[in-house]
Amino acid sequence: MKIAITGKGGVGKTTLTSLLAYAYLDMGFKVLAIDADPAPCLGAALGFPSEKLAQLTPIARMDELIFERTGAQPGTVGGFFKLNPRVDDIPDRFSVEHAGIRLLEMGAVELGGSGCICPESATLRALTTHILLQRDEVVLLDMYAGVEHLGRATADAVDAMLIVVEPTARSLSTAEQIKSLAEDIKLSHLYIVGSKVQSEEDRAFITEHAPGLPVIGHLTDDERVRQADREGVAVYSIAPELAQIAKSIIETIENEVPAP
Ligand SMILES: Nc1ncnc2c1ncn2[C@@H]1O[C@H](COP(=O)(O)OP(=O)(O)OP(=O)(O)O)[C@@H](O)[C@H]1O
Ligand SMILES: [Mg+2]
Repeated sequence: MKIAITGKGGVGKTTLTSLLAYAYLDMGFKVLAIDADPAPCLGAALGFPSEKLAQLTPIARMDELIFERTGAQPGTVGGFFKLNPRVDDIPDRFSVEHAGIRLLEMGAVELGGSGCICPESATLRALTTHILLQRDEVVLLDMYAGVEHLGRATADAVDAMLIVVEPTARSLSTAEQIKSLAEDIKLSHLYIVGSKVQSEEDRAFITEHAPGLPVIGHLTDDERVRQADREGVAVYSIAPELAQIAKSIIETIENEVPAP
């Protein structure tokens, strides 16, 4: 299963990705977590120790690697370079593992054709396609905020997309934009996940304003999310209620989305 996690800035995408990673692991799956944020923080949310995180550089910033694979310096426009560079060794070579979860920092993700034609985007696009189509583990893509990066070419390789929303009008309006983009690129399994929900009223607001998409879970607003952040541990390990919600989200996805 390959799942992209999207939504407005700050709604809780990284928190949900971390919970899903450990929930999948507990359910017996192998997990590859991808941080597509140019300012990576999924590793911290997963409770990776700082020595391990220090070993990671986002692929988008690995100039030498990009040069080696495409034959052109990142930052150059025009000229000749390989549009289909070799990338199959990258996930294992440039990721780190902790507590059974493999983490790769991409620094960005190219899901489609709309990006610039430059060595970096060619590398990221090839890598994203490779990971989505060739890797056999569960892949969770923690996307950066916004919608611009959702392109056509390989989006159909994502099996499901989760749009995280807070009980606010603005985050639901971003969800609506994401939905319409996702439908343009024919992404079929789209779900809403509520986040930072404090009350029945919050739940009702999300359900009522969800842009015609099923709501498959609500993560409650929980002090332990901040506590986990301060202590450098995964929230999954200290908040069993949130862990349980993540498991039930996975059960829904696994029941509804056909295996790739
Ligand atoms: N369920 C929750 N309960 C309490 N606080 C939460 C919850 N989920 C997220 N937060 C808090 O909200 C903030 C943003 O969370 P997170 O980093 O997961 O969001 P994000 O969507 O990944 O943000 P960004 O767009 O910056 O990547 C963090 O400070 C986090 O502690
Ligand atoms: Mg994030």
